[in-house]
Amino acid sequence: MSAEAEAEAEAEYFSKDFEWETLRQEIEDNPSYQYHLLPFTCTPPSQQQEIQVSEDSKAWKRFHLRHSSGKFFKERRYLLKEFPELVSCKEFSKVLEVGCGNGSSAIPILRGNKDIIVYACDCSSETLERAKEIVHSTNIFAVQNRFHPFFCDFAFTGFPKWLVCDSCVESFSLKQQEYSSDVKEGGVADKSGSYLSRECGCCIGGVDFVSLIFTLSAVPQKKMSSAIMECFSVLKPGGLLLFRDYGLYDMTMLRFEQEKRVGFREYMRSDGTRSYFFCLDTVRDLFVGVGFIELELEYCCVKSVNRRKGKSMQRVWVHGKFQKPA
Ligand SMILES: C[S@@+](CC[C@H](N)C(=O)[O-])C[C@H]1O[C@@H](n2cnc3c(N)ncnc32)[C@H](O)[C@@H]1O
Repeated sequence: MSAEAEAEAEAEYFSKDFEWETLRQEIEDNPSYQYHLLPFTCTPPSQQQEIQVSEDSKAWKRFHLRHSSGKFFKERRYLLKEFPELVSCKEFSKVLEVGCGNGSSAIPILRGNKDIIVYACDCSSETLERAKEIVHSTNIFAVQNRFHPFFCDFAFTGFPKWLVCDSCVESFSLKQQEYSSDVKEGGVADKSGSYLSRECGCCIGGVDFVSLIFTLSAVPQKKMSSAIMECFSVLKPGGLLLFRDYGLYDMTMLRFEQEKRVGFREYMRSDGTRSYFFCLDTVRDLFVGVGFIELELEYCCVKSVNRRKGKSMQRVWVHGKFQKPA
């Protein structure tokens, strides 16, 4: 496992080793980084973009085959500190972990709350198999009934209807309308403040949480908004979207050579997987743009030391929490 991945996995809650504004100034004043700041004008024709999307999943499949030892992503132990709602939520809450890899985020969630149910998808069946093996080899309480991995390329095909069917989506929006008119009249639609899912038999009635942990950056920039809309649709009203991903001017962005740029702040690694680096405004526009309410959004700036090379690395991640209106 690389030193960067390790630092990522171990970063502490409220890590603020340096100010993001200071880093921004440093980067923008440094002539050797200028190509990262230039506008990106080359837009491929739309047919090519569609082809590119399935190429993206193929690249991830190849990535997982190469790293099949399964240890590439380390368990993200900090996750429950960042998102304590995953512990304090009501019994049998449902989480959808999108782009679960080999379970780095799913495992701490299952471990931290013995009643939570995790649905986990990925566009690579190899990594899903690996995730199943790793999760089942832990001694987490009743894990066989609480971990449900499934194959899905959410940016390309959206989520399956068994997560939430059209009739439940309709009932969500009816309840939302009732709630907002009740609130306008000074009342509340539901005293508990929560929406009980209708167990209609054809779907699980939506989820209480969607986690997008280092997954959105892997989605082509042009597909991000529709991919987030998909996440919005599967959430129950009042549900939370938990977000963590690469931040603008993270050390790994500055390491990309000019020819790896495939868009503005978007890069493609030699293996064909891509990575986008988010600033807070982009994240805000994407999530609020599809109807989410922003609860938390900040940079997490961590100085970590590569022990082998004795070099200090400035890591930047974006932490966000968004709510679907109740
Ligand atoms: C950097 S890993 C993050 C894994 C995990 N969320 C974690 O916390 O470590 C990104 C994962 O997203 C998956 N992925 C990328 N694009 C996807 C898509 N369109 N649909 C589903 N999974 C995707 C990749 O296969 C990979 O496992």
